[in-house]
Amino acid sequence: MNLRAGSAADAAAMASVHAQAFDAPWDQAAFEQLLSGPGVYAFLVAGDDPMGFVLCRAAAGEAEVLTVGVAPWARRRGIGAALMTAAVAAARTAGAQAMFLEVDADNAAALALYESLGFERAGLRKAYYDRGLAGRADAVVMRLDLASNAH
Ligand SMILES: CC(C)(COP(=O)(O)OP(=O)(O)OC[C@H]1O[C@@H](n2cnc3c(N)ncnc32)[C@H](O)[C@@H]1OP(=O)(O)O)[C@@H](O)C(=O)NCCC(=O)NCCS
Repeated sequence: MNLRAGSAADAAAMASVHAQAFDAPWDQAAFEQLLSGPGVYAFLVAGDDPMGFVLCRAAAGEAEVLTVGVAPWARRRGIGAALMTAAVAAARTAGAQAMFLEVDADNAAALALYESLGFERAGLRKAYYDRGLAGRADAVVMRLDLASNAH
């Protein structure tokens, strides 16, 4: 698997995967802006076409997954797990004591992925996501302890 660190030069590739993975896509400019921010880092898996990416931010001893996505045609091959594993390792290297993320309470695939990596449910944000005509969805806040050696 061709997994590498991503930079602003990969913004178009990330936007392309994001558009395939989410209903409300973030464009290339949004990724360029995020990637130029302090503490922001990314990993990318690409073959001939970009397959998946993760975008995170580490600051003040905490890390956060901003977004992670794998193109539908590239799923269930371990790419999401590999990206998240790299993101967790980088958070630890950056000195973070914990890593956080938010996930749609109905997103069984992502919840299973995060739980398999040791993330635990830390809270619930009611009606956090706007799904347009489908109404609003709750977000589960998840936390991975990086201070212990458990993971
Ligand atoms: C969530 C997502 C990133 C997973 O990517 P992926 O490359 O398919 O994940 P992996 O192949 O590495 O799967 C790792 C583990 O996650 C879990 N998992 C992944 N997809 C799953 C699914 N559809 N149903 C149940 N469990 C799933 C499994 O435990 C899996 O391990 P296994 O294949 O050994 O059973 C991908 O489905 C995606 O991009 N979804 C849309 C965007 C999204 O929801 N992002 C997260 C927002 S918070």
